[in-house]
Amino acid sequence: MAEEEVKDLELMDKIVSLCKRRGFIFPSSEIYGGINGFWDYGPYGARMKRAIENLWWHEMVETRDNVEGLDSTIICHPRVWKASGHLDQFSDLMTDCKKCKSRYRVDQMADPTTCPNCGSKDLTEPREFNLMMKTFVGPVFDEEHTAWLRAETCQPIFVDFHSVRVATRQKLPFGIAQIGKAFRNEINPRNFTFRSREFTQMEMEFFCDGEEGMEWFEYWKQQRINYYKNKLKFSDDFFRIYVHEKLAHYAKAAIDIEVKFPFGWGELEGVHHRGTWDLTRHSEFSGEDLQYMDHDNSRKLMPTVIETSVGLDRTMLALLCRAYDEEKAATAKEGMDEDTRVVLHLPPLVAPIQVAVLPLSKKLKEPAYALYKEIDRHFRCEYDETGSVGKRYRRQDEIGTPFSVTFDFDSANDNAVTVRNRDTMEQERVNVTQLRDYLEKQIEA
Ligand code: GAP
Repeated sequence: MAEEEVKDLELMDKIVSLCKRRGFIFPSSEIYGGINGFWDYGPYGARMKRAIENLWWHEMVETRDNVEGLDSTIICHPRVWKASGHLDQFSDLMTDCKKCKSRYRVDQMADPTTCPNCGSKDLTEPREFNLMMKTFVGPVFDEEHTAWLRAETCQPIFVDFHSVRVATRQKLPFGIAQIGKAFRNEINPRNFTFRSREFTQMEMEFFCDGEEGMEWFEYWKQQRINYYKNKLKFSDDFFRIYVHEKLAHYAKAAIDIEVKFPFGWGELEGVHHRGTWDLTRHSEFSGEDLQYMDHDNSRKLMPTVIETSVGLDRTMLALLCRAYDEEKAATAKEGMDEDTRVVLHLPPLVAPIQVAVLPLSKKLKEPAYALYKEIDRHFRCEYDETGSVGKRYRRQDEIGTPFSVTFDFDSANDNAVTVRNRDTMEQERVNVTQLRDYLEKQIEA
């Protein structure tokens, strides 16, 4: 293995270990040995995940008059998945090693004739494996009562298209967005949360006149690129656009937004021109006409759909990978004797804790805690009084807190506190009356 690859694997191990140690992400059901492809988000992880979700919802729904929100069920009528094509086509080719019993997705094997685990060439013939997760609804466990957990959050959006349009009186073009769990029985869950069996998607389906389809496709592509640059602070070397040449028969265009994970470039989001496929299929299978009719009955058409589809877990993983850093020389600056500072350079908008309030001494607890309670109403905050201030800075660095506010013995007299910047480690004296404004500007920057 090349030196670079070893380093990347080590980096991934360090990120996984930090996530576990500091309560971001750990294996689901760990005391029972875990369950492959399922992950729990601990206290900091849950806060960060919620922050990303809220940011996406704010950008895609709350700030737009022409995008509505939806929160549908995970289990839908089984015919939904027949209409969408998932029951017949949502599968990967897999093969088993007859010797060591390992199972692989054929498209992920460097050499599909050799077992990557034991080197045996005795593999089963590749066969289709459907990724839909099956369950039963009602007391009888038979074919008739079979249902599936949704494999993507967008299908219920198409199914509810007509109800949303009537309820909101939206005219074309308009969108419907939803955030929620999706389930896929992945053959090989891997790369931490990157490929999980249960994960959260954030999807928006934009319905428009087919003649304007490509214009809207370009618009949404650019909107999403701007979001990654301006909100999540992704630099040009960290993400790229992959243009799909081979398209589904109904699609007119598709791109992936890929990011550079330690294990290689991976898809984070897809922007897809889905044509009229989904609404047409659901019209056919349900018998309901899902065509759009203008309020004055002047035109009737099957809307074309532009989709933006992103994984929440993958976004969080990308942010953590991007943010992780070990700084060698930084520690002496704050009088610490350890030789490395581990720091997450997370964008302040999505950091699990945005502001830490640290009294210089436990004797200052009362006023420092009162200040914490005050600013906690506006930012995600944490109060910490245990250990030296240097150690507390390190703890905050490790979870990516961009600002630490230290309340010292002068604070009671001059009504000012010291704000320490995570990235520069510079400290600035700020009057308490200005603190909220000061932090707001820095966090929004
Ligand atoms: N509706 C379109 C759709 O679902 P997709 O490319 O299959 O498209 C969209 O999924 C996004 O969902 C991906 O870009 C990825 O971020 C996320 N995703 C898909 N499968 C995933 C998995 N097994 N684990 C984690 N995230 C996944």
